[in-house]
Amino acid sequence: MKFFIDTANLDQIKEANDLGILDGVTTNPSLMAKEGIKGTDAINNHYKAICQIVGQKDVSAEVLSVTFEEMVEEGKKLAALNPNIVVKVPMIKDGVKAIKWFTDNKIRTNCTLIFSAGQAILAAKAGATYVSPFLGRIDDSGWDGVQLIEQIAQIFAVQGFKTEILAASIRNANHIIRCAEAGADVCTCPLDSILALLKHPLTDIGLAKFLEDAKKM
Ligand code: E4P
Repeated sequence: MKFFIDTANLDQIKEANDLGILDGVTTNPSLMAKEGIKGTDAINNHYKAICQIVGQKDVSAEVLSVTFEEMVEEGKKLAALNPNIVVKVPMIKDGVKAIKWFTDNKIRTNCTLIFSAGQAILAAKAGATYVSPFLGRIDDSGWDGVQLIEQIAQIFAVQGFKTEILAASIRNANHIIRCAEAGADVCTCPLDSILALLKHPLTDIGLAKFLEDAKKM
């Protein structure tokens, strides 16, 4: 399973990249706004800065428009910023059309705001590189997000779809582990969820004892 970091914060992206286990970055308009990025030039420069930090790794950049024509124009410009940009497109009717256009024109896509297996099938049929089921938001509303990942994984395997399942809206380390079990190809996670995977009290206790005993060596 690949690890993406789900943030537009350059320090966090650098920290995750320095860990050596990072495979890519996802952003969305909320994450960009949180960093105070405003205006086309600043947005484009920020995506370029992210690409510079992570090198040859995928960076999802979301279109802000909702009509086919506008999404195509916007996506072309985003894709031209860097070869590693993946154009993030919402799961709406014009979004499906735009994904097909991008597929036909060799521009990679991440279909975002996936909340059902039917939506994932449509995105895969249009040739999306990734589908992003939002499992945390599904859990937040009292349903089971991981179950959706399992269902999509089964459908894609049976149907031979090449689209990768990018589990998004991750809330904690347990989500990451359950996504790995469920067959997600990628998990995009906040930095604290990635770092939480490191933690186990027995590791800390064991290390303290080894270091103490090492003084007697
Ligand atoms: C990433 O691609 C998604 O936009 C993101 O994971 C959504 O996360 P949230 O539900 O925490 O906003």
